[in-house]
Amino acid sequence: MPNTISDLPLEPFKIKVVERISLPPREVRERELEAAGFNLFNLRSEAVYIDLLTDSGTSAMSDEQWAAMMRGDESYAGSRNYYRLEARVQEITSYAHVIPTHQGRSAESLLFSTVLKPGMYVPNNMHFDTTRANVEANNGNAVDMLCREGFDMDSDFPFKGNMDVERLDAFLAEHGREAVPLVMITVTCNSNGGQPVAMANVREVRKICDAHGVPLFLDACRFAENSFLVREREEEFADRSVKEIAQELFSYAVGCTFSGKKDALVNMGGFFACNDDELARLLTEKLILVEGFPTYGGLSGRDLEAMAQGLEEVLHEDYLAFRIGQVRMMAAALEEASIPHIKPAGGHALYLDAKAFCPHIPPAQFPGQALSTALYLEAGIRSVEIGSLMFEQGDADTGEAMHPELEMVRFAIPRRVYTTRHLQYVVDAIIRLYEKRDSLCGLEIVSAPPRLRHFTARLRPVQ
Ligand code: F0G
Repeated sequence: MPNTISDLPLEPFKIKVVERISLPPREVRERELEAAGFNLFNLRSEAVYIDLLTDSGTSAMSDEQWAAMMRGDESYAGSRNYYRLEARVQEITSYAHVIPTHQGRSAESLLFSTVLKPGMYVPNNMHFDTTRANVEANNGNAVDMLCREGFDMDSDFPFKGNMDVERLDAFLAEHGREAVPLVMITVTCNSNGGQPVAMANVREVRKICDAHGVPLFLDACRFAENSFLVREREEEFADRSVKEIAQELFSYAVGCTFSGKKDALVNMGGFFACNDDELARLLTEKLILVEGFPTYGGLSGRDLEAMAQGLEEVLHEDYLAFRIGQVRMMAAALEEASIPHIKPAGGHALYLDAKAFCPHIPPAQFPGQALSTALYLEAGIRSVEIGSLMFEQGDADTGEAMHPELEMVRFAIPRRVYTTRHLQYVVDAIIRLYEKRDSLCGLEIVSAPPRLRHFTARLRPVQ
């Protein structure tokens, strides 16, 4: 796999449509950042040159997907696009019920508002922020059970997304199925670097779940990237197709939430799927109330068709090799410049270790946010903090701020969008900023809502 640009697998596509972008002058970037309250979520996208805020909903659709859009059947009920999506999802997951939603978090909301009673627990290798928020909004406790290696930025353990199975077993023994309606595994594990989960780990988790009578679900947003990394890193799978690996992955769970905005290569869409008839019935009732009729669930027919097509394309192995190769190439360049980042590179993004990048900024002053805003000023690049601004919590007893173990800045790579030269520009800017890292300055919050504050908080430099 690639370490330099010339090792990068060739692009398995060519460009048919382009979108103009330009780098706003430094004084404009300064003005925009000030107006955005030092929160890159508050920026107008036109003030950004390279937008690596997220890989979610930012993919370039293929000619086949755009053609699929023209095959949209906008019937209120029974749209043919639904049946095509259902068949595609069933081919990959084998789950009996497929419930379309407008994106991943609405699938999460439907699921958790149905299965959770106040005080219950949901173990996950590591909850994504919306998943955690949906558990907590339903008065549940979101418990992260990531393996030890997953917190060590320098460990080259190949499956840093794995669940800590001993901890899970002990937790289920202590709390029992009455208090734990389900266990979830997030593939790949976004919150610690897009790290894959080993199939061996999924099997082990399934065994433990069975022993305690608790169902296992996947948060399957990046299932194809996880499956590709399983093939590379787990010997048993070296000769299997990525699709077969994905099928096996889904076979160990009884259902999943899914954001089509990632590994279905669409700009909007998602679904919930499961085998449990009663659960599907309850979610469908709710779906009609908040999303739409069961054969469109908050989406247009054309969106369903594009998602069905994307689910086929995402399993093309030359696509996955190129995509993951782009991320890896960036990581290799950072490694060469000795810039602290999470190793090994994840599937969808590059993650800088903000604690090590600017050790002079304490967690209470948001080193990740300081770094990502400084990089915007430097080069018009938008990244996202995954650290204290996103995940800091008050201690249940003392109310004192508890900071997460990892302070990171994520550069999520949109699928099929940026050229290798664009990404080289990003790497060069990070290296320039690293050279003057002592000049970075911490931030403090001016205003923030109580939940999911990183989306809308306003900050200012610490005086
Ligand atoms: N689960 C994971 C692991 C995610 O990464 C996301 C979204 C969701 C669930 C929710 O899906 O956005 O369709 O509602 N992650 C995006 C990101 C937003 O930037 O990582 P959604």
